[in-house]
Amino acid sequence: MANAIHVLKTSRAVASMADEVRRALTARPRWLPCKYFYDNRGSELFEQITQLPEYYQTRTEVALLARISDDVVARAAPRELVELGSGAGRKIGMLLEASARAGRAIRLVLFDINPLFVDASARRIAAQFPGVDVHGLTGDFFNDLATLGPGGGRLAVFLAGTIGNLHPDDVPRFLSRIARQLEPDDALLVGLDLVKDTVRLEAAYNDAAGVTAEFNRNILRHVNRVLDADFDVDAWEHVAFYDHARAWIEMRLRATRNCRVRARGAGLDLRFRAGEEISTEISCKYTRPSFERMLPRTGLMLEQWYSDDKQMFALTLLRRVRMALRPV
Ligand code: SAH
Ligand code: AVI
Repeated sequence: MANAIHVLKTSRAVASMADEVRRALTARPRWLPCKYFYDNRGSELFEQITQLPEYYQTRTEVALLARISDDVVARAAPRELVELGSGAGRKIGMLLEASARAGRAIRLVLFDINPLFVDASARRIAAQFPGVDVHGLTGDFFNDLATLGPGGGRLAVFLAGTIGNLHPDDVPRFLSRIARQLEPDDALLVGLDLVKDTVRLEAAYNDAAGVTAEFNRNILRHVNRVLDADFDVDAWEHVAFYDHARAWIEMRLRATRNCRVRARGAGLDLRFRAGEEISTEISCKYTRPSFERMLPRTGLMLEQWYSDDKQMFALTLLRRVRMALRPV
């Protein structure tokens, strides 16, 4: 079967980046949307993070997926897989192999904000799985999901614990938006990083090799390049800590000296004092009850909770139920 590869480029991407960055950097406290980590260098740095000894998430999720893929495919019986935030698209191969073992012909859609990674992973998977009809879509999974079109036989997957990078207040709305792109009985598989001891959590975001620090600072390089800004990247230090009360890791960048930053593409002229911080990411850690609290009225019901022996990471299979969805 021939593989069609379509990458939809959003022409409004730079304009909306300018608006979002302007709003975030002029807010108090100042922040930046974490989706702007992922230019090509940021996506490469994330791939390096997944190999770090401290970053247990990826290897735990991969081992779990290897164990459960056949069960997920048996339950969801998909004709189409959609990976949201697909990145390098390495894990989806396990679900494609499980579909092949079950004798199911399948279509695959990779959806990510980074067009180069969508394109490269779509081509690699198309070469590796010649029977799979592979498509790529570029967009923001919070705002552009409608480009997926209607569901039916769809299994959407959202791996890596990326749902943790959304503020918990936004998660029910996000899940409802996914549910809108699913038909009753379609399914969603979500990866969740679980609450665990602080030492292990903080180590995963403060690796000895400094890759996470570079990933964090890369957001400033991305803003410099796209919005014609002049952040002196070396003047910002990486900060990551676990906030118990909120059950999230927060990453920040802290100015090591007073600085002035202009971003012509966003019409900004800012002054930062030494010690001032920009919040760049939260990474929420869930328990089964705290995740189940996100589900009422989303149109999604928990069908199966899978976890590793040490309860480090979970994959949760949600089923689209027949109900009127709340407005989103
Ligand atoms: N699924 C892969 C990659 C996870 S990293 C894995 O399991 O390893 C998170 C991915 O989500 C990155 O590839 C990033 O580009 C993408 N991403 C982050 N925010 C996004 C957004 N708002 N819309 C679309 N993709 C986004
Ligand atoms: C993509 N996401 C699940 C990662 C996380 O752990 O929250 C991003 C990341 N940030 C720092 N290291 C990795």
